[in-house]
Amino acid sequence: MAKIAYLGGGNMAQAMGTRLLAAGHDLTVYNRTVEKLKPLVDKGAKTAKSPREAVQGADVVFCSVTDDTASRAMWMGPDGALAGGLPAGTLVVEHSTMSPDWVKELSCAAKEKGLRYVDCPVAGRPDAAAAGKLVVFGGADDEEDLEAVTPYISSISRRIYHLGPVGTGTAFKLIYNLLGVVQIVGLAEALAAAEAAGIDIETAATAFADGNTGSPHVLKHGAYMAQNEHEDPPGFTANGRLKDSSYGVALEEGLGITPLVGRAAMTAYKGMVEKGMGAAADSRLFEVIAGKRTD
Ligand SMILES: NC(=O)c1ccc[n+]([C@@H]2O[C@H](COP(=O)([O-])OP(=O)(O)OC[C@H]3O[C@@H](n4cnc5c(N)ncnc54)[C@H](OP(=O)(O)O)[C@@H]3O)[C@@H](O)[C@H]2O)c1
Repeated sequence: MAKIAYLGGGNMAQAMGTRLLAAGHDLTVYNRTVEKLKPLVDKGAKTAKSPREAVQGADVVFCSVTDDTASRAMWMGPDGALAGGLPAGTLVVEHSTMSPDWVKELSCAAKEKGLRYVDCPVAGRPDAAAAGKLVVFGGADDEEDLEAVTPYISSISRRIYHLGPVGTGTAFKLIYNLLGVVQIVGLAEALAAAEAAGIDIETAATAFADGNTGSPHVLKHGAYMAQNEHEDPPGFTANGRLKDSSYGVALEEGLGITPLVGRAAMTAYKGMVEKGMGAAADSRLFEVIAGKRTD
């Protein structure tokens, strides 16, 4: 079994760390807020005082944190994971959803130290991670690098796609999430319009889910919105939707694609965050679009 370093102690890192421990690996974790690591420590993980300390002696390093800023804090700087101690050839894997520019900078910094960087953002919520049912979007310069991490990421996932070199996993994840958020924003608008037209929104949500419009997002979020019952704690927040769609819109613009609907979806979540609802469940966008909030 391997000696694994895990950087991060949020919802996804906890669920993935638990799977790695259950698979029998020796896990050392670092998180900025140390108290959040208690559940992993209770299951057998060791803790470290810095990312640099966490990676000492590791065969492979994983990271799952909020965004570019959080990832930079984990890998760079005098106490960062790249500061020293990792022998050339060590596999370093990012699961966080980040911008392509940062992934490029980070992967180049890792490569300069002789490390093997693998880009592995994931689709699926913490419950999917806990059940080992995430979908992994892999980007690796060398097929062998993705193969080398497969024994570990198989314990958290039901499917691993190799999309191309480093950076393609992130690009695909951002495009994938943009497609998803467009569906949720379209649904909120459609339900608001149905309600304004005098139609019962539970009936409308059922009919949208039943027809060609019925994607899994429409099915799940339609019920949350129509019944005004949202995931608690939120599976995905407005802050998260804004972050992912901002990165996705910038990516598409950089590729020469006009993100017409992607930009509209990003603007919708920007509006929700500006109303002080950044930490609220993404499905509560319906309240904003339907004009149910007075602030
Ligand atoms: N949740 C989902 O459904 C889902 C699904 C797919 C992908 N993802 C992606 O997975 C990643 C993690 O998501 P999550 O849901 O686990 O997030 P989370 O529960 O909010 O945890 C965020 C983690 O990032 C750390 N962090 C944030 N800012 C930091 C900073 N400036 N410096 C150091 N550490 C910082 C937090 O540390 P503290 O504990 O100290 O705050 C925590 O460990 C994100 O990139 C997200 O987009 C999430």
